[in-house]
Amino acid sequence: ASLADMPEGVPASNRVQNRSAEAASAPTHGFRNTPDSDPAIEANRDWSRAIVARMEESTLGAQTIADHTITDEAALNALIEDAATAAAGWRELGAATRAEILHRAGDALEKHRADLLEVMGAECGKVIEQSDPEVSEAIDFAHYYAEQARTLETVDGATFTPVGVTVVTPPWNFPVAIPAGSTLAALAAGSAVVIKPAGLAERSGAVMVEALWEAGVPREVLKLVQVSENDLGRQLLTHPAVERVVLTGAYETAELFRSFRPDLPLLAETSGKNAVIVTPSADLDLAAKDVAMSAFGHAGQKCSAASLVVLVGSVARSRRFRDQLVDAVTSLEVGLPWDEASRIGPLIEPANGKLLKALTSLEPGQRWVVEPRKLDDEGSLWRPGIREGVQPGSEFHRTEYFGPVLGIMTAETLDEAIEIVNAIEYGLTSGLHALDEAEIQRWLSRIEAGNVYVNRGTTGAIVQRQPFGGWKKSAVGAGTKAGGPHYLYGFGTWADAET
Ligand code: ALA
Repeated sequence: ASLADMPEGVPASNRVQNRSAEAASAPTHGFRNTPDSDPAIEANRDWSRAIVARMEESTLGAQTIADHTITDEAALNALIEDAATAAAGWRELGAATRAEILHRAGDALEKHRADLLEVMGAECGKVIEQSDPEVSEAIDFAHYYAEQARTLETVDGATFTPVGVTVVTPPWNFPVAIPAGSTLAALAAGSAVVIKPAGLAERSGAVMVEALWEAGVPREVLKLVQVSENDLGRQLLTHPAVERVVLTGAYETAELFRSFRPDLPLLAETSGKNAVIVTPSADLDLAAKDVAMSAFGHAGQKCSAASLVVLVGSVARSRRFRDQLVDAVTSLEVGLPWDEASRIGPLIEPANGKLLKALTSLEPGQRWVVEPRKLDDEGSLWRPGIREGVQPGSEFHRTEYFGPVLGIMTAETLDEAIEIVNAIEYGLTSGLHALDEAEIQRWLSRIEAGNVYVNRGTTGAIVQRQPFGGWKKSAVGAGTKAGGPHYLYGFGTWADAET
């Protein structure tokens, strides 16, 4: 296809590189990660400027949510039962046909990239620098799980039978990639899906679902629902036809779900309190940049975000790394997503509770290296804060804040730093900046986290290359990693083919 033939939702860089026609028609193909929109291409800068200009007034997804909001028990039960009925046909369609539909779903997400960026900015405050890779990730999930589905039916002589209905309850912080990933995995495995987007990100979820429907995922097999009250949410989770629940959210939410139904078949990726260790062998320029973006990309509202940096030995004793980090962080423009210059957008809601406390007060012995500053009246826009003097066992050491505040800790040795990090009860992502191979190996063999990154930021896992999932209190349930070769196994059961 020529550039001119491609829909305007697709950035110029992807119009050139798009390999979707090839993906949809080939029976099998090697999986390749989808490129982000390259801002070095002038046409892409015009393209993203046009999206930014639409954001503030955007109403994308609003009507779809209004049309799919359920207000009574009977309607919700009917919807779940419909999905259970449709599941049989979806399963019988076979993995190869489902894979073709999923490849088309990936293409549709690419086609609607501009809409997805618009609605994520409008609804969730995501700046394009953050939301564009998120769309690429969603597209990757589609093509990757499509290919995984083809290999699923028989593995080592055992036959896979998908579950009937999966309920997907995604978070608001990755309002497209996470709902898309969970939904596409369940669909690829052969399960029907009922998706209930997060209340704060429901329009973004709706636009994503519309793209999947447009691609040919049957509406009976993929049901979008918003519920008007909490009791209906509980009913959705506890309906006997629901065989899997995918949750990405706080550990406490997983506990709440289990309190509704103790045997709930949950696949949950939960909270994180993630740290980056910087040793004297590190490339400090790279470390400062990675820590700044890991901590403050999307205003720190990522389960994968760095919330602590542990400086080892001479890095802790000198001012050099701190000064570089301060420079990196204070040069990040804070603003609304419809201001092109913004690198850090607003919080999804005005800061409150433990986050507000962490932005406005210190524990004994701590000091602001950069003091957070509220930039609007309501308390959604914050210049990020960095505190030092965080002690092992302190509240800041242990608590997930999900916002723009980072703590500096110090250790004499790498082993001491690893102990400080492993004392945290969560284990989602962890980072090391070190160029010394022995240090890297020591850290890799001891650190307790699901995703471990050496000389790279802690956010933005790439499908297939960095399957994503937690350890310790960062995961509840099966624990297979999203975007990895075994994730689909969670959506069914295995039986010996011989018997
Ligand atoms: N998968 C998301 C990341 O890696 C959460 O940042």
